[in-house]
Amino acid sequence: MKQTAVKIRSLKGSQKIAVLTAYDWLSARYVDEAGIPVVLVGDSLANTVLGYGTTIPVTMDEMVHHTAAVSRGVKEALIVADMPFMSYQGTLEHALENAGRFLKEGGADAVKVEGGAMRADLIEKMVANGIPVLGHIGLLPQSVKETGFKTQGKTDEAAHKLMADALAVEKAGAFAVVLECVPAELAQKITAELKIPTIGIGAGPHCDGQVLVFTDVLGLGHGHVPGFVKKFADLKPQIQSALATYKKEVEESAFPKK
Ligand code: KIV
Repeated sequence: MKQTAVKIRSLKGSQKIAVLTAYDWLSARYVDEAGIPVVLVGDSLANTVLGYGTTIPVTMDEMVHHTAAVSRGVKEALIVADMPFMSYQGTLEHALENAGRFLKEGGADAVKVEGGAMRADLIEKMVANGIPVLGHIGLLPQSVKETGFKTQGKTDEAAHKLMADALAVEKAGAFAVVLECVPAELAQKITAELKIPTIGIGAGPHCDGQVLVFTDVLGLGHGHVPGFVKKFADLKPQIQSALATYKKEVEESAFPKK
């Protein structure tokens, strides 16, 4: 049965929630067929499949194009589209229009925005207009030019701010919130405090769910892989070996057979 934001929200406390990124029809088919209830069309596709160095350059048109491909591959999972850098940081009207494009053109069920209390008005407006929102606090990849890739919430003051951000995102109406690179004890406290599920990435085992990147989980990536990632398969050497064998067999006329 098709997942909804309400259903995902209601899983808190009864079932841990697996979330995985997908970037096209093929990866989406695999994720959906595995029964993973939430597929995130992450702006990490900038790095993992488009070859940009960061998530900053990826555009709305590129994200909508990939979201539409993911939608064609998904039957049941909730499809969350990641709003790219500068698609929601301007006026509320501009942000709402862009979020609407993900639902209308991309077939998404929800959108994700980075930021805590400062995004509360935006989240409230989107939810009031029928657009479910997944929040995202902690390390914000779209802000790494300011923060660098560092664990967030390590001082008392920063931990306090992150808790306030989590509560603001919940109050604004988000159905769940991603906690990225947050100390495990702080993630545990936030998880205990919130009524909505927390989805961790590099945030320890106590969150209500976990999110990882498709290429990292399968050992397919070409770039840096963070230390908290677990490779559930190591497909890169198998692909390299298969392609080398193909090349060799063609060059040596071993393939095709008569
Ligand atoms: O873009 C992405 O893939 C993400 C998750 C890893 C949280 O934002």
